[in-house]
Amino acid sequence: MEPIKLNITQALNFLPEGEFDKQRDTALERLILLHEKTGPGNDYLGWLNLPSDINDKQTGEIIAAANELRNEVDVVVVVGIGGSYLGAKAIIEALNHSFYQLLTTRKAPLIMFAGQNLSQDYLADLLEVIDDKNYGIVVISKSGTTTEPALAFRMLKNHLESKIGKKQAGKRIIAVTDEKKGALKQLANEEGYKTFVIPDDIGGRYSVLTPVGLLPVALAGISIKDLIEGARFMEKITGQDTIPENNPAVQYSIIRNLLYRHGRKIEILVNFNPKLHFFAEWWKQLFGESEGKEGKGIYPSSVDFTTDLHSLGQYIQEGERILFETVVSVTQPDKQINIPHDKTNLDKLNYLAGKSLDEVNKMAELGTMLAHVDGGVPNIHIEIPSLNEFCLGQLIYFFEKACAISGYLLGINPFNQPGVEAYKKNMFALLSKPGLEQESARIRKNIF
Ligand code: PA5
Repeated sequence: MEPIKLNITQALNFLPEGEFDKQRDTALERLILLHEKTGPGNDYLGWLNLPSDINDKQTGEIIAAANELRNEVDVVVVVGIGGSYLGAKAIIEALNHSFYQLLTTRKAPLIMFAGQNLSQDYLADLLEVIDDKNYGIVVISKSGTTTEPALAFRMLKNHLESKIGKKQAGKRIIAVTDEKKGALKQLANEEGYKTFVIPDDIGGRYSVLTPVGLLPVALAGISIKDLIEGARFMEKITGQDTIPENNPAVQYSIIRNLLYRHGRKIEILVNFNPKLHFFAEWWKQLFGESEGKEGKGIYPSSVDFTTDLHSLGQYIQEGERILFETVVSVTQPDKQINIPHDKTNLDKLNYLAGKSLDEVNKMAELGTMLAHVDGGVPNIHIEIPSLNEFCLGQLIYFFEKACAISGYLLGINPFNQPGVEAYKKNMFALLSKPGLEQESARIRKNIF
């Protein structure tokens, strides 16, 4: 068991003495509110005990379906957006070989994504590259009516059916959706697709440990059992029986809320390993959609270092002091490469010869933290022993739990997303959706 470690020392120094300790009781109350299911959005708390609730039968069914499809195809297109996309993408990118698309020894099918945008070029390019491939589709939508995945699925389904015939295509399509309602559920019933259920009481951005995330991840050859084991471990240590001082989710939610109250409106999730790029995208959705409402909320942002030290690094060091950083640091890389000695030493780097590249990366990380703290940027540090299923499972549940407590500390409902509807309403009116004639006329008059 390798626990992830949270260190908030370099953030505490930015707060008046004693302020953090004063918040502990309030945070504990919020944690209890969450566990007793009496707070806002309490009908969406199915994720809370999900890791300990999932049983071997459920994981076994997911693994069996994944294995069956894996035996049939070389490519799987996963169709979904938001919470029905980001978790799977984050885990696959974090745990796979950095260039798995090109890996000749790859044993699992290539996982590609669609329905996460409305770009014509993206979908046309995708259809072009899968045209001569043996492929299957996993379509994921809780509501079953989201425009982006519904359109992408319509086109992919059409393509697959014309390529291998309707009957064969039906065997290569798996739908992950609501148990009873929605257009996708209806379609899956009519076409006889294999289906997995997204529980009613789990919202999109909290659904990564349901078949939404687990099926694509299992298809990619990643151990969903170890992932759940990690989440289970974190579920245990972030429960209401743990004293707040030892509960990392409580500690993190207190510190970020206090920083926010002291004018730190932007949190930057930092990594020094590009495999975590999409993990940050998942994290941004989790916190952005959960907290950004009622004119409140920390704006979640992210950077990949050292890459972005050569772009956004300047702003972080010397721009407006409205930021704080949360660094996710991986202690042990998977692989080892050492810096060679060079006879000419024209680049003057022989003093590094014999060191691993990771030693340099770690010193860049430490140097950056010291520079940013000196420059007035509070720093929260999360150390994960290595980038594996168990650690990632912990990290996922840690952030989910912290996000819920944090939202309650902020005084909002962290489980709804009313603001997401605004663009949809306008888009449908502009596309002259039947029933929106009045809205369409009004919006057109205002714009054109
Ligand atoms: O977190 C959320 O609820 C959203 O991001 C949804 O996941 C996203 O809008 C996709 O919804 P659906 O799964 O219903 O297609």
